[in-house]
Amino acid sequence: MTGLRRKLGVLDSGIGGLSVLRQVHRLLLHHPTIYVADQIHIPYGPRPAEEVHSFVVPIVEFLMAHGAEVIILACNTASATSLLLLREAYPDIPFVGMEPAVKPAAEATRSGIVGVLTTRTTANGPLYERVLDRFARDVQVVTQIAPGLVPIAEAQSQHTPESRAIIESYVQPLLAAGADQIVLGCTHFPLIADAIQAAAGARVALVDPSPAIARQAARVWPSGMLPPPAINQYFTTGDPARFQSMLKTLTGVDSPVQQLSWTDSLELEVTNPL
Ligand code: DGL
Repeated sequence: MTGLRRKLGVLDSGIGGLSVLRQVHRLLLHHPTIYVADQIHIPYGPRPAEEVHSFVVPIVEFLMAHGAEVIILACNTASATSLLLLREAYPDIPFVGMEPAVKPAAEATRSGIVGVLTTRTTANGPLYERVLDRFARDVQVVTQIAPGLVPIAEAQSQHTPESRAIIESYVQPLLAAGADQIVLGCTHFPLIADAIQAAAGARVALVDPSPAIARQAARVWPSGMLPPPAINQYFTTGDPARFQSMLKTLTGVDSPVQQLSWTDSLELEVTNPL
């Protein structure tokens, strides 16, 4: 094992994965992280699974080439399209994936009704099917596809009247069905949890799996590996200045962000190396 391969790789279509990364930074203080936001392709949620997978594979290869030892798919959609395939293709790399947190919600519900806010591709994917099969036998799960929440989270515009109306339009059917738990089944949604909570009311609990994901990353971190000093790297295929400002607002980290670009043959190049 080379000294290079000691980082925790994290990917998402945008800033959503920062909801996971900030938990990782809290729990794994000394672990260097490398984050890729594929903002040029956001949103992933409405895209066909094959297309999302065709983006995720080169990002994973980029992370591995830059030293990722463990990779978190900090994106429910990318996990739905790619987690099982990646584990098969790269058996030496521990992948941590996200699936809607129906299990804790099913354990906590008193009304017996669990709402799930998520993306279309996550809702149609194999992980969600498996989760429902395993954990939703004794509760009713109401799934709300909420594509309009991703751009709101990405722009952090959740407090405008227009955004509030969109958020309410997704939350209302879950309340009407009697849900007392709302699972945040997209990593962008914890970044607008304040507005979702306001629309849902104080009696409804929001379920955010990101602390559990950070704990899982700590569990699969190869034992005996001494973490080097934590130097964290950030890359986006979108606008680095914009990502940098969101990074600071959402995680308190003030760090340069490097520009990544897709080539015509769907490979990734760093176009402003530090
Ligand atoms: N944050 C992602 C997820 O957890 C993707 C949202 C999107 O790009 O549609 O699903």
